[in-house]
Amino acid sequence: MKQMTTEEIKNTFLDYFQNNGHLVIPKSGIIPKNDPTLLFINAGMAPLKDYFLQKTIPPSKRLTNYQDCIRLIDIDSIGDSYHGTSFRMMGSWSFGDYFKEESIELAFKLITEVFGFPKEKLYATVFVNDGTLPGVPDDFESAEIWKKYLPADRIIPSPPSDNFWGPPGDSGPCGPCTEVFFDRGESFGSTNENKDILISGRHIEIWNAGVFMEYFIDEEKNISLLPQKCVDTGAGMERFAMILQNKNSIHEIDQYEIPFSYIAENVLDLKWSRIVFDHLKTSLLMLQSGIKPSNQKEGYLLRRLIRRSLTGMYLNGCDLQKSNDFLSLISEHLEKPTGAYVKDEEVVSIFSNESGLFSKMLKRNKKYFDKIVAEGNLTGEYAFALKATHGVPEELVRELCNKYHITFPEDDFLEKMTQHKEVSKK
Ligand code: GLY
Repeated sequence: MKQMTTEEIKNTFLDYFQNNGHLVIPKSGIIPKNDPTLLFINAGMAPLKDYFLQKTIPPSKRLTNYQDCIRLIDIDSIGDSYHGTSFRMMGSWSFGDYFKEESIELAFKLITEVFGFPKEKLYATVFVNDGTLPGVPDDFESAEIWKKYLPADRIIPSPPSDNFWGPPGDSGPCGPCTEVFFDRGESFGSTNENKDILISGRHIEIWNAGVFMEYFIDEEKNISLLPQKCVDTGAGMERFAMILQNKNSIHEIDQYEIPFSYIAENVLDLKWSRIVFDHLKTSLLMLQSGIKPSNQKEGYLLRRLIRRSLTGMYLNGCDLQKSNDFLSLISEHLEKPTGAYVKDEEVVSIFSNESGLFSKMLKRNKKYFDKIVAEGNLTGEYAFALKATHGVPEELVRELCNKYHITFPEDDFLEKMTQHKEVSKK
């Protein structure tokens, strides 16, 4: 495999598609324009939705770019080596031009001949309907095409839950997809309890190498055909870099090494250091794009990311004041998203105000947290009092319990909450 910087990976991807007749288009901002179905751009195709629907005509039938994405659906997986709440997606598209045959050929050649991924470590998944998506046929065609490049036992049938992509939001274009996985080797897992061929953490999806966009799903979940057959692909730039640079995680690639290492020196638990880095990086993108912490929609998601990163620092004995340094260091190494209009000083000021309030809350309630840890026990009544009387977010108490292996009193807590709601109604 070729050793490449992340910048080289990006340019190699774009040059390859440009040399194959694709027009390089600029990336969009992370805030969707005229798309109420999405809070954030979560895939390279999201800003191009209207091209798939033929509501507007693309500048070329073949396009490529890279796109900042925010995908909070993966939030519970952050801390492993390959999930992030924000990442950059390298993408390519065909709008009513080539379809499965050329798309798979383009993908295979780029991965093996240009990036040098060894063929014997690659797997491809193809869509097979398990009945959960009535009317969408199995994708035997892609399986046949892959046989030109990979042995049959490395072409894996996958159900709609894994291999039907989209729509990106409540409605929009979507279709069955074929994904390429790379085997990182036995040291990342030899088998799992279900004896799956693809083991998470060992076999990493490096590229959704073809979403065969033929369908449209509306808000009532009705499925219909698109006016034209299109291809959408998306590859996480950080995942490519992790593998080609032989790094332990997407957070440790060349571009992020300096801010990540600094955070990891201060937040010693590896999982938490990744969470703190990831959540601050995503918070920064949001703040730069004009989102402010609040109790609604995007603002609430931003607030939760900031709070969780501070929670991680607190639980790992890291001075909370350092969060400002962490954010500034990330900012020095992160490319600004398109449309970022908030000045750096304002970003810092909004962040320190939000983090300052949360830090004060943490300090104010430290004695209660220490008591829970010392006793190794938490009652529903105590958890409820923390939330209702002291304004401690429930998630924080859950994280504290997780860290110290204390059982969270689900039933008693729920009972107290329900009682409280009943009383408030009267
Ligand atoms: N749009 C394809 C993907 O995000 O995987």
